Amino acid sequence: MNISIVGTGYVGLVTGTCFADVGNQVLCVDNNQSKIDLLLDGKIPIYEPGLEELVSSNIAQQRLQFTTDINRAVAYADIIFIAVGTPPDEDGSADLSHVLAVAKAIGQTLTDYRVIVTKSTVPVGTAAKVRKAVQAELDARAVNVEFSVASNPEFLKEGAAIDDFMKPDRVVIGADDDRAVELLRSLYAPFNRNHERLIVMDIPSAELTKYAANAMLATKISFMNELSNLAERLDADIELVRQGIGSDPRIGYHFIYPGCGYGGSCFPKDVQALHRTARQHGYNARILDAVEAVNQDQKSVLLDKIDAHFDGDLSGKTFAIWGLAFKPNTDDMREAPSRVIIDGLLARGAKVKAYDPVATEEASHIYQQQQDVAFAGDLYSATADADGLIVVTEWKAFRSPDFTRLKSQLRTPVIFDGRNIYEPAMLAQAGFKYYGIGRSN
Ligand code: UDX
Repeated sequence: MNISIVGTGYVGLVTGTCFADVGNQVLCVDNNQSKIDLLLDGKIPIYEPGLEELVSSNIAQQRLQFTTDINRAVAYADIIFIAVGTPPDEDGSADLSHVLAVAKAIGQTLTDYRVIVTKSTVPVGTAAKVRKAVQAELDARAVNVEFSVASNPEFLKEGAAIDDFMKPDRVVIGADDDRAVELLRSLYAPFNRNHERLIVMDIPSAELTKYAANAMLATKISFMNELSNLAERLDADIELVRQGIGSDPRIGYHFIYPGCGYGGSCFPKDVQALHRTARQHGYNARILDAVEAVNQDQKSVLLDKIDAHFDGDLSGKTFAIWGLAFKPNTDDMREAPSRVIIDGLLARGAKVKAYDPVATEEASHIYQQQQDVAFAGDLYSATADADGLIVVTEWKAFRSPDFTRLKSQLRTPVIFDGRNIYEPAMLAQAGFKYYGIGRSN
Protein backbone atom coordinates (compact mmCIF):
# COMPACT_ATOMS: atom_id res chain seq x y z
CA MET A 1 0.00 0.00 0.00
CA ASN A 2 1.08 3.60 -0.47
CA ILE A 3 1.01 5.56 2.76
CA SER A 4 1.67 9.23 3.48
CA ILE A 5 2.59 10.50 6.91
CA VAL A 6 2.38 14.22 7.56
CA GLY A 7 4.70 15.26 10.40
CA THR A 8 8.05 13.57 11.04
CA GLY A 9 8.12 14.07 14.78
CA TYR A 10 8.38 11.16 17.13
CA VAL A 11 5.02 9.58 16.28
CA GLY A 12 5.11 10.23 12.54
CA LEU A 13 8.63 8.94 12.09
CA VAL A 14 8.08 5.74 14.08
CA THR A 15 4.75 5.10 12.34
CA GLY A 16 6.09 5.73 8.84
CA THR A 17 9.23 3.70 9.36
CA CYS A 18 7.40 0.71 10.82
CA PHE A 19 4.81 0.71 8.02
CA ALA A 20 7.68 0.80 5.51
CA ASP A 21 9.47 -2.01 7.29
CA VAL A 22 6.58 -4.41 6.73
CA GLY A 23 6.59 -3.69 3.00
CA ASN A 24 4.50 -0.57 2.36
CA GLN A 25 5.68 2.38 0.29
CA VAL A 26 5.79 5.32 2.67
CA LEU A 27 6.22 9.01 1.98
CA CYS A 28 6.86 11.19 5.03
CA VAL A 29 6.32 14.92 4.74
CA ASP A 30 7.40 17.74 7.00
CA ASN A 31 7.55 21.50 6.43
CA ASN A 32 10.92 21.69 8.18
CA GLN A 33 13.49 21.48 5.37
CA SER A 34 16.51 20.87 7.62
CA LYS A 35 14.72 17.98 9.32
CA ILE A 36 13.92 16.44 5.94
CA ASP A 37 17.55 16.90 4.79
CA LEU A 38 18.74 15.11 7.92
CA LEU A 39 16.27 12.26 7.38
CA LEU A 40 17.18 11.90 3.71
CA ASP A 41 20.69 11.33 4.99
CA GLY A 42 19.38 8.46 7.15
CA LYS A 43 19.87 10.45 10.38
CA ILE A 44 17.14 11.11 12.91
CA PRO A 45 16.63 14.24 15.01
CA ILE A 46 15.53 12.31 18.13
CA TYR A 47 16.92 9.57 20.33
CA GLU A 48 14.98 6.34 20.01
CA PRO A 49 16.74 2.98 20.27
CA GLY A 50 16.80 1.14 16.93
CA LEU A 51 15.00 3.83 14.95
CA GLU A 52 17.97 5.27 13.05
CA GLU A 53 18.99 1.84 11.77
CA LEU A 54 15.41 1.11 10.70
CA VAL A 55 15.09 4.46 8.91
CA SER A 56 18.37 3.89 7.05
CA SER A 57 17.55 0.36 5.98
CA ASN A 58 14.11 1.32 4.71
CA ILE A 59 15.55 4.25 2.77
CA ALA A 60 18.08 1.85 1.26
CA GLN A 61 15.30 -0.59 0.31
CA GLN A 62 13.49 2.35 -1.33
CA ARG A 63 10.38 1.91 0.77
CA LEU A 64 10.75 5.12 2.76
CA GLN A 65 10.91 8.59 1.24
CA PHE A 66 10.91 12.10 2.65
CA THR A 67 9.65 15.37 1.22
CA THR A 68 8.53 18.87 2.16
CA ASP A 69 5.85 18.79 -0.54
CA ILE A 70 2.47 18.11 1.05
CA ASN A 71 0.76 18.04 -2.35
CA ARG A 72 2.94 15.12 -3.36
CA ALA A 73 1.92 13.33 -0.17
CA VAL A 74 -1.77 13.85 -0.94
CA ALA A 75 -1.38 12.50 -4.46
CA TYR A 76 0.83 9.59 -3.35
CA ALA A 77 -1.18 7.58 -0.89
CA ASP A 78 -4.42 5.71 -0.22
CA ILE A 79 -4.13 6.56 3.44
CA ILE A 80 -2.83 9.87 4.80
CA PHE A 81 -1.86 10.00 8.46
CA ILE A 82 -1.79 13.35 10.22
CA ALA A 83 0.92 13.14 12.87
CA VAL A 84 1.81 16.79 13.41
CA GLY A 85 2.28 18.32 16.85
CA THR A 86 -0.56 19.41 19.13
CA PRO A 87 1.29 21.53 21.69
CA PRO A 88 -0.69 22.70 24.73
CA ASP A 89 -2.19 26.19 24.58
CA GLU A 90 -1.63 28.50 27.53
CA ASP A 91 -4.87 27.22 29.04
CA GLY A 92 -3.80 23.56 28.70
CA SER A 93 -5.95 22.63 25.72
CA ALA A 94 -4.37 21.08 22.64
CA ASP A 95 -3.48 23.55 19.88
CA LEU A 96 -5.04 22.17 16.68
CA SER A 97 -3.75 24.79 14.26
CA HIS A 98 -1.15 22.44 12.72
CA VAL A 99 -3.63 19.59 12.35
CA LEU A 100 -6.24 21.80 10.71
CA ALA A 101 -3.65 23.45 8.43
CA VAL A 102 -2.79 19.97 7.14
CA ALA A 103 -6.49 19.17 6.65
CA LYS A 104 -6.86 22.38 4.67
CA ALA A 105 -3.82 21.57 2.53
CA ILE A 106 -5.23 18.11 1.82
CA GLY A 107 -8.57 19.58 0.76
CA GLN A 108 -6.82 22.00 -1.60
CA THR A 109 -5.42 19.27 -3.84
CA LEU A 110 -7.49 16.14 -3.18
CA THR A 111 -8.66 14.51 -6.42
CA ASP A 112 -9.34 10.85 -5.48
CA TYR A 113 -10.68 8.89 -2.54
CA ARG A 114 -8.40 8.94 0.52
CA VAL A 115 -8.65 7.91 4.13
CA ILE A 116 -7.44 10.78 6.28
CA VAL A 117 -6.37 9.49 9.67
CA THR A 118 -5.61 11.52 12.78
CA LYS A 119 -2.64 9.94 14.55
CA SER A 120 -1.63 12.88 16.73
CA THR A 121 -3.21 12.96 20.18
CA VAL A 122 -6.18 15.18 19.53
CA PRO A 123 -9.20 16.16 21.60
CA VAL A 124 -12.49 14.43 21.06
CA GLY A 125 -14.18 16.09 18.11
CA THR A 126 -11.01 16.77 16.11
CA ALA A 127 -11.69 14.23 13.36
CA ALA A 128 -15.00 16.01 12.78
CA LYS A 129 -13.13 19.32 12.48
CA VAL A 130 -10.68 17.73 10.04
CA ARG A 131 -13.59 16.48 7.94
CA LYS A 132 -15.11 19.96 7.92
CA ALA A 133 -11.81 21.64 7.00
CA VAL A 134 -11.23 19.25 4.08
CA GLN A 135 -14.83 19.58 2.88
CA ALA A 136 -14.66 23.39 3.06
CA GLU A 137 -11.71 23.35 0.63
CA LEU A 138 -13.47 20.92 -1.72
CA ASP A 139 -16.53 23.19 -1.66
CA ALA A 140 -14.35 26.22 -2.37
CA ARG A 141 -12.91 24.38 -5.38
CA ALA A 142 -16.44 23.29 -6.32
CA VAL A 143 -15.33 19.67 -6.67
CA ASN A 144 -16.89 16.52 -5.34
CA VAL A 145 -14.33 14.05 -4.01
CA GLU A 146 -15.17 11.24 -1.64
CA PHE A 147 -12.97 10.82 1.44
CA SER A 148 -13.12 9.17 4.85
CA VAL A 149 -11.86 10.44 8.15
CA ALA A 150 -10.65 8.08 10.85
CA SER A 151 -8.96 8.21 14.23
CA ASN A 152 -6.09 5.85 15.01
CA PRO A 153 -4.40 6.93 18.24
CA GLU A 154 -0.90 5.73 19.06
CA PHE A 155 0.15 4.08 22.29
CA LEU A 156 3.93 4.24 21.86
CA LYS A 157 6.28 4.55 24.81
CA GLU A 158 9.41 6.54 24.23
CA GLY A 159 12.42 4.26 24.35
CA ALA A 160 10.32 1.26 23.31
CA ALA A 161 8.38 2.76 20.41
CA ILE A 162 9.43 0.34 17.68
CA ASP A 163 8.56 -2.69 19.76
CA ASP A 164 5.27 -1.10 20.80
CA PHE A 165 4.42 -0.43 17.16
CA MET A 166 5.51 -3.81 15.82
CA LYS A 167 3.88 -5.80 18.63
CA PRO A 168 0.92 -3.70 19.73
CA ASP A 169 -1.35 -4.63 22.64
CA ARG A 170 -4.15 -3.21 20.55
CA VAL A 171 -4.80 -1.10 17.48
CA VAL A 172 -7.68 1.29 18.05
CA ILE A 173 -9.53 2.44 14.96
CA GLY A 174 -12.30 4.98 15.08
CA ALA A 175 -14.23 5.19 11.82
CA ASP A 176 -17.76 5.57 10.62
CA ASP A 177 -17.61 3.83 7.26
CA ASP A 178 -16.66 0.32 6.14
CA ARG A 179 -14.37 1.42 3.35
CA ALA A 180 -12.01 3.17 5.77
CA VAL A 181 -12.16 0.29 8.23
CA GLU A 182 -11.26 -2.26 5.55
CA LEU A 183 -8.30 -0.22 4.27
CA LEU A 184 -6.96 0.27 7.79
CA ARG A 185 -7.59 -3.38 8.61
CA SER A 186 -5.42 -4.51 5.70
CA LEU A 187 -2.73 -1.95 6.56
CA TYR A 188 -2.54 -3.33 10.10
CA ALA A 189 -2.81 -7.01 9.09
CA PRO A 190 0.96 -7.63 9.57
CA PHE A 191 0.68 -6.42 13.18
CA ASN A 192 -2.46 -8.37 13.91
CA ARG A 193 -1.18 -11.94 14.05
CA ASN A 194 -2.12 -14.73 16.48
CA HIS A 195 -5.09 -12.97 17.96
CA GLU A 196 -7.35 -10.07 17.09
CA ARG A 197 -5.80 -6.79 18.16
CA LEU A 198 -7.93 -4.42 16.15
CA ILE A 199 -10.58 -2.65 18.16
CA VAL A 200 -12.93 -0.81 15.86
CA MET A 201 -15.24 1.81 17.28
CA ASP A 202 -16.88 5.14 16.52
CA ILE A 203 -14.59 8.15 16.12
CA PRO A 204 -15.27 10.03 19.39
CA SER A 205 -14.72 6.83 21.42
CA ALA A 206 -11.38 6.24 19.70
CA GLU A 207 -10.33 9.81 20.37
CA LEU A 208 -11.31 9.50 24.02
CA THR A 209 -9.60 6.11 24.37
CA LYS A 210 -6.19 7.69 23.92
CA TYR A 211 -6.76 10.27 26.64
CA ALA A 212 -8.44 7.74 28.88
CA ALA A 213 -5.43 5.40 28.67
CA ASN A 214 -2.91 8.09 29.54
CA ALA A 215 -5.10 9.62 32.23
CA MET A 216 -5.65 6.21 33.85
CA LEU A 217 -1.91 5.52 33.88
CA ALA A 218 -1.13 8.97 35.27
CA THR A 219 -3.79 8.42 37.92
CA LYS A 220 -2.15 5.16 39.02
CA ILE A 221 1.17 6.95 39.43
CA SER A 222 -0.19 9.97 41.30
CA PHE A 223 -2.26 7.71 43.54
CA MET A 224 0.83 5.67 44.43
CA ASN A 225 2.80 8.86 45.01
CA GLU A 226 0.10 10.11 47.33
CA LEU A 227 0.20 6.81 49.22
CA SER A 228 4.00 7.05 49.42
CA ASN A 229 3.74 10.45 51.12
CA LEU A 230 1.28 8.94 53.54
CA ALA A 231 3.49 5.88 54.14
CA GLU A 232 6.35 8.15 55.21
CA ARG A 233 4.16 9.75 57.81
CA LEU A 234 2.94 6.38 59.08
CA ASP A 235 6.38 4.72 59.28
CA ALA A 236 5.34 2.28 56.57
CA ASP A 237 7.35 1.23 53.52
CA ILE A 238 5.58 1.92 50.22
CA GLU A 239 7.68 -0.72 48.44
CA LEU A 240 6.18 -3.41 50.64
CA VAL A 241 2.74 -1.90 50.21
CA ARG A 242 3.29 -1.89 46.44
CA GLN A 243 3.99 -5.61 46.45
CA GLY A 244 1.10 -6.21 48.79
CA ILE A 245 -1.43 -4.56 46.53
CA GLY A 246 0.13 -5.44 43.15
CA SER A 247 -0.37 -9.14 43.86
CA ASP A 248 -4.10 -8.56 43.51
CA PRO A 249 -4.68 -9.12 39.79
CA ARG A 250 -7.39 -6.49 39.82
CA ILE A 251 -4.68 -3.96 40.72
CA GLY A 252 -1.62 -5.52 39.07
CA TYR A 253 2.07 -4.70 39.38
CA HIS A 254 2.32 -2.39 36.37
CA PHE A 255 2.60 1.35 36.72
CA ILE A 256 2.40 1.53 40.48
CA TYR A 257 6.00 2.54 41.06
CA PRO A 258 6.23 5.56 43.34
CA GLY A 259 8.78 8.19 42.40
CA CYS A 260 9.56 11.86 42.02
CA GLY A 261 6.72 12.42 39.56
CA TYR A 262 5.85 11.61 35.98
CA GLY A 263 6.98 13.75 33.05
CA GLY A 264 7.33 13.47 29.30
CA SER A 265 5.42 14.74 26.33
CA CYS A 266 2.21 12.81 26.99
CA PHE A 267 0.99 12.41 30.56
CA PRO A 268 1.21 16.04 31.73
CA LYS A 269 -0.17 17.41 28.46
CA ASP A 270 -2.91 14.82 28.06
CA VAL A 271 -4.18 15.01 31.64
CA GLN A 272 -4.44 18.78 31.32
CA ALA A 273 -6.08 18.62 27.90
CA LEU A 274 -8.68 16.08 29.08
CA HIS A 275 -9.42 18.19 32.13
CA ARG A 276 -9.91 21.16 29.87
CA THR A 277 -12.16 19.20 27.48
CA ALA A 278 -14.29 18.13 30.44
CA ARG A 279 -14.63 21.74 31.57
CA GLN A 280 -15.58 22.86 28.07
CA HIS A 281 -18.39 20.32 28.21
CA GLY A 282 -19.63 21.52 31.55
CA TYR A 283 -18.06 18.80 33.67
CA ASN A 284 -15.58 19.35 36.47
CA ALA A 285 -13.20 16.35 36.31
CA ARG A 286 -12.01 16.45 39.91
CA ILE A 287 -9.84 13.34 39.80
CA LEU A 288 -7.90 14.64 36.79
CA ASP A 289 -7.33 17.90 38.61
CA ALA A 290 -5.94 16.04 41.62
CA VAL A 291 -3.73 13.77 39.48
CA GLU A 292 -2.03 16.81 38.02
CA ALA A 293 -1.75 18.68 41.33
CA VAL A 294 -0.27 15.67 43.14
CA ASN A 295 2.27 15.25 40.34
CA GLN A 296 3.35 18.89 40.49
CA ASP A 297 3.98 18.59 44.21
CA GLN A 298 5.69 15.22 43.84
CA LYS A 299 8.40 16.73 41.68
CA SER A 300 9.48 18.76 44.73
CA VAL A 301 9.42 15.95 47.29
CA LEU A 302 13.15 15.25 46.92
CA LEU A 303 13.92 18.95 47.25
CA ASP A 304 12.04 19.02 50.57
CA LYS A 305 14.07 16.06 51.79
CA ILE A 306 17.34 17.70 50.71
CA ASP A 307 16.32 20.92 52.43
CA ALA A 308 15.44 19.09 55.63
CA HIS A 309 18.67 17.09 55.63
CA PHE A 310 20.82 20.20 55.28
CA ASP A 311 18.68 22.28 57.68
CA GLY A 312 17.52 24.54 54.88
CA ASP A 313 21.00 25.72 53.97
CA LEU A 314 22.07 24.56 50.52
CA SER A 315 23.97 27.67 49.62
CA GLY A 316 27.42 26.91 48.14
CA LYS A 317 26.78 23.16 48.13
CA THR A 318 27.17 21.02 45.01
CA PHE A 319 24.84 18.14 44.23
CA ALA A 320 25.44 15.28 41.84
CA ILE A 321 22.40 14.34 39.81
CA TRP A 322 22.14 10.99 38.07
CA GLY A 323 19.48 10.99 35.38
CA LEU A 324 18.06 14.03 33.63
CA ALA A 325 15.53 12.71 31.10
CA PHE A 326 11.97 12.12 32.31
CA LYS A 327 12.64 8.38 32.20
CA PRO A 328 15.38 5.97 31.09
CA ASN A 329 16.18 5.18 27.43
CA THR A 330 15.24 8.59 26.13
CA ASP A 331 16.85 12.00 25.90
CA ASP A 332 13.49 13.71 26.34
CA MET A 333 13.64 16.51 28.91
CA ARG A 334 10.04 17.65 28.52
CA GLU A 335 8.38 18.05 31.92
CA ALA A 336 11.23 16.06 33.46
CA PRO A 337 11.26 16.10 37.29
CA SER A 338 15.01 16.79 37.10
CA ARG A 339 14.18 20.30 35.88
CA VAL A 340 12.13 21.15 38.96
CA ILE A 341 14.86 19.71 41.18
CA ILE A 342 17.68 21.56 39.40
CA ASP A 343 15.74 24.84 39.41
CA GLY A 344 14.99 24.40 43.12
CA LEU A 345 18.63 23.71 43.96
CA LEU A 346 19.80 26.74 41.99
CA ALA A 347 17.20 28.94 43.66
CA ARG A 348 18.64 27.85 47.01
CA GLY A 349 22.16 28.83 45.97
CA ALA A 350 23.41 25.30 45.25
CA LYS A 351 25.34 24.04 42.24
CA VAL A 352 24.62 20.94 40.16
CA LYS A 353 26.85 18.40 38.44
CA ALA A 354 24.68 16.12 36.35
CA TYR A 355 25.15 12.91 34.44
CA ASP A 356 22.75 11.21 32.06
CA PRO A 357 23.70 8.47 29.57
CA VAL A 358 21.96 10.24 26.64
CA ALA A 359 20.16 13.44 27.70
CA THR A 360 23.17 15.68 28.40
CA GLU A 361 22.97 17.43 25.05
CA GLU A 362 19.26 18.20 25.43
CA ALA A 363 19.83 19.39 28.98
CA SER A 364 22.80 21.54 28.07
CA HIS A 365 20.57 23.55 25.69
CA ILE A 366 18.15 24.20 28.55
CA TYR A 367 20.86 25.26 31.00
CA GLN A 368 23.29 26.93 28.59
CA GLN A 369 23.02 30.28 30.41
CA GLN A 370 23.46 28.62 33.81
CA GLN A 371 27.01 28.60 35.11
CA ASP A 372 26.00 26.63 38.17
CA VAL A 373 24.94 23.59 36.15
CA ALA A 374 27.78 21.41 34.89
CA PHE A 375 27.58 18.12 33.03
CA ALA A 376 29.73 15.10 33.72
CA GLY A 377 30.78 12.44 31.22
CA ASP A 378 30.27 9.54 33.61
CA LEU A 379 28.73 8.57 36.93
CA TYR A 380 31.72 9.21 39.14
CA SER A 381 32.83 12.50 37.59
CA ALA A 382 29.44 13.79 38.69
CA THR A 383 29.80 12.60 42.27
CA ALA A 384 33.42 13.68 42.86
CA ASP A 385 33.41 16.20 45.73
CA ALA A 386 29.63 16.56 45.67
CA ASP A 387 27.73 17.18 48.91
CA GLY A 388 25.20 14.51 48.05
CA LEU A 389 23.83 12.33 45.26
CA ILE A 390 20.34 12.71 43.83
CA VAL A 391 18.99 9.91 41.61
CA VAL A 392 16.19 11.18 39.39
CA THR A 393 15.93 8.60 36.58
CA GLU A 394 16.21 4.84 36.99
CA TRP A 395 18.75 4.06 34.25
CA LYS A 396 20.01 0.49 34.57
CA ALA A 397 23.61 1.73 34.85
CA PHE A 398 22.72 3.46 38.16
CA ARG A 399 21.41 0.37 39.88
CA SER A 400 24.60 -1.14 41.11
CA PRO A 401 27.30 1.49 41.49
CA ASP A 402 30.56 1.07 43.36
CA PHE A 403 29.31 2.26 46.76
CA THR A 404 32.76 2.22 48.33
CA ARG A 405 34.06 4.56 45.67
CA LEU A 406 30.93 6.68 45.95
CA LYS A 407 31.34 7.02 49.69
CA SER A 408 34.94 8.10 49.40
CA GLN A 409 34.01 10.67 46.77
CA LEU A 410 31.04 12.37 48.37
CA ARG A 411 31.70 15.08 50.95
CA THR A 412 28.74 13.79 52.92
CA PRO A 413 27.61 10.25 52.21
CA VAL A 414 23.96 11.00 51.52
CA ILE A 415 21.78 9.68 48.71
CA PHE A 416 18.37 11.00 47.70
CA ASP A 417 16.78 8.29 45.58
CA GLY A 418 13.81 9.57 43.57
CA ARG A 419 13.06 6.14 42.05
CA ASN A 420 13.62 3.75 44.95
CA ILE A 421 16.32 1.83 43.10
CA TYR A 422 18.38 1.10 46.22
CA GLU A 423 17.65 -0.89 49.34
CA PRO A 424 17.68 1.33 52.44
CA ALA A 425 19.12 -1.37 54.71
CA MET A 426 21.98 -2.09 52.35
CA LEU A 427 22.88 1.57 52.02
CA ALA A 428 22.72 2.08 55.76
CA GLN A 429 25.15 -0.79 56.14
CA ALA A 430 27.43 0.79 53.54
CA GLY A 431 27.48 3.94 55.67
CA PHE A 432 25.12 6.16 53.72
CA LYS A 433 22.26 8.29 54.90
CA TYR A 434 19.52 7.25 52.49
CA TYR A 435 16.29 8.96 51.51
CA GLY A 436 13.85 7.19 49.22
CA ILE A 437 10.24 7.87 48.30
CA GLY A 438 7.68 6.60 50.79
CA ARG A 439 10.20 4.68 52.86
CA SER A 440 9.74 6.23 56.30
CA ASN A 441 12.90 8.28 56.57
C1 UDX B 1 3.24 7.26 27.77
C2 UDX B 1 2.34 6.01 27.59
O1 UDX B 1 2.89 4.92 28.33
C3 UDX B 1 2.20 5.66 26.13
O2 UDX B 1 1.32 4.55 25.96
C4 UDX B 1 1.64 6.89 25.41
O3 UDX B 1 1.49 6.66 24.04
C5 UDX B 1 2.53 8.09 25.64
O4 UDX B 1 2.68 8.31 27.03
P1 UDX B 1 5.86 7.76 27.74
O5 UDX B 1 5.49 9.19 28.01
O6 UDX B 1 6.87 7.47 26.70
O7 UDX B 1 4.54 6.94 27.30
O8 UDX B 1 6.39 7.15 29.09
P2 UDX B 1 6.02 6.02 30.17
O9 UDX B 1 7.00 4.92 30.06
O10 UDX B 1 4.61 5.66 30.09
O11 UDX B 1 6.33 6.82 31.52
C6 UDX B 1 5.69 8.06 31.81
C7 UDX B 1 6.16 8.64 33.11
O12 UDX B 1 5.61 7.94 34.21
C8 UDX B 1 7.67 8.65 33.34
O13 UDX B 1 8.04 9.90 33.86
C9 UDX B 1 7.89 7.56 34.37
O14 UDX B 1 9.01 7.79 35.16
C10 UDX B 1 6.60 7.64 35.17
N1 UDX B 1 6.22 6.40 35.86
C11 UDX B 1 5.84 5.31 35.13
C12 UDX B 1 6.19 6.35 37.25
O15 UDX B 1 6.52 7.34 37.93
N2 UDX B 1 5.77 5.21 37.86
C13 UDX B 1 5.39 4.10 37.18
O16 UDX B 1 5.01 3.11 37.82
C14 UDX B 1 5.43 4.16 35.77
